[in-house]
Amino acid sequence: MDKEISALQAKYEAQKIAFAPLIFQAVMALKKLGVLSLMGQHYEGISIAEIVRQTGISRYGASVLLEAVAGAGVVKYLDEHTVQLTKTGYMLHADRMTEVNLNFVNDVCYEGAKSLTGSIQSGKPVGLKKLGDWSTVYEGLSQLPDDVKESWFAFDHFYSDNAFPIALEIVFREKPATIFDIGGNTGKWSFACCDYNQDVHLTILDLPGQLALAKQNADARGLLPRIDFYPIDLLDEQQHIPAGADAIWMSQFLDCFSEQEIRAILTNVARASTPNTSIYILEPFIDNQSFEAASFCLTGTSLYFTCIANGNSKMYTLQTMTRLVQESGLQVVKFFPI
Ligand SMILES: C[S@@+](CC[C@H](N)C(=O)[O-])C[C@H]1O[C@@H](n2cnc3c(N)ncnc32)[C@H](O)[C@@H]1O
Repeated sequence: MDKEISALQAKYEAQKIAFAPLIFQAVMALKKLGVLSLMGQHYEGISIAEIVRQTGISRYGASVLLEAVAGAGVVKYLDEHTVQLTKTGYMLHADRMTEVNLNFVNDVCYEGAKSLTGSIQSGKPVGLKKLGDWSTVYEGLSQLPDDVKESWFAFDHFYSDNAFPIALEIVFREKPATIFDIGGNTGKWSFACCDYNQDVHLTILDLPGQLALAKQNADARGLLPRIDFYPIDLLDEQQHIPAGADAIWMSQFLDCFSEQEIRAILTNVARASTPNTSIYILEPFIDNQSFEAASFCLTGTSLYFTCIANGNSKMYTLQTMTRLVQESGLQVVKFFPI
């Protein structure tokens, strides 16, 4: 039990959680109705009458939304008629990570989150039914409705793209001629490799639906001569990763699987490798974050895996992944805390 706060404060904290879904939707409404961006243009404060005038929402609408989020520390009342964004409100209005997370939770997770209990009980992503009739989200990625797809990809890319520039330097120190990009998705890493080094050849391995999109993207960039596409379902242990890679790259890939599945995939990777193959795992680990907000996002993301993605995967700690690597007959040679 948290002894740092009083029982009264604890009761308040508990109410914030009880009303969190409504407060969340109030923030989304304020964003969609243009109130947060208008307030962002008036950091000194703006009158509610002006908000009503410029956004066209009713006075009633403005009052319920603003009063509710004031309780959550998003806006502050300077007087009865004037409101101002707080620092938290500023983050909700202008911070890219917050925007990506809000849209992902709203468009991908929100409807299905009510099925979290059932997902835990069944080990299946029961909430995924709200998006489509697939057994995992990956089967349906290419068929998601456009707004859901956009939010899913923005979330996915936000958390891997930032690491790519440093990762490219690390991977190319070994001068690989061929790289396998496992779970390569839209092809972003493979395209970055082709830009970084003019001679390297890539193979993207992924489910057929994703490969079709990656191929389309590669074609648009004129990269078809430098990239091969290898359809594979790595949950099927009969499907083997081919030999021939100098480097095998897995970015935000292993977190899509349970511990048992990760061991099977890494064993498959080991079988496709020689002693000269370098295997790279890029993952945001819960215990490797410099900021509390980052670890919080990762543990929250695990719940998405439970009720939407596949029902049995999660974001891992470095400690767990190191153990899984060892249990698969491999070893961690070097850890780069990117
Ligand atoms: C979270 S995305 C990672 C995308 C990209 N590597 C990145 O860093 O942004 C996971 C990828 O793994 C692929 N994937 C999921 N399950 C798979 C399976 N059973 N076999 C092959 N690929 C799979 C998905 O299709 C998706 O492209």
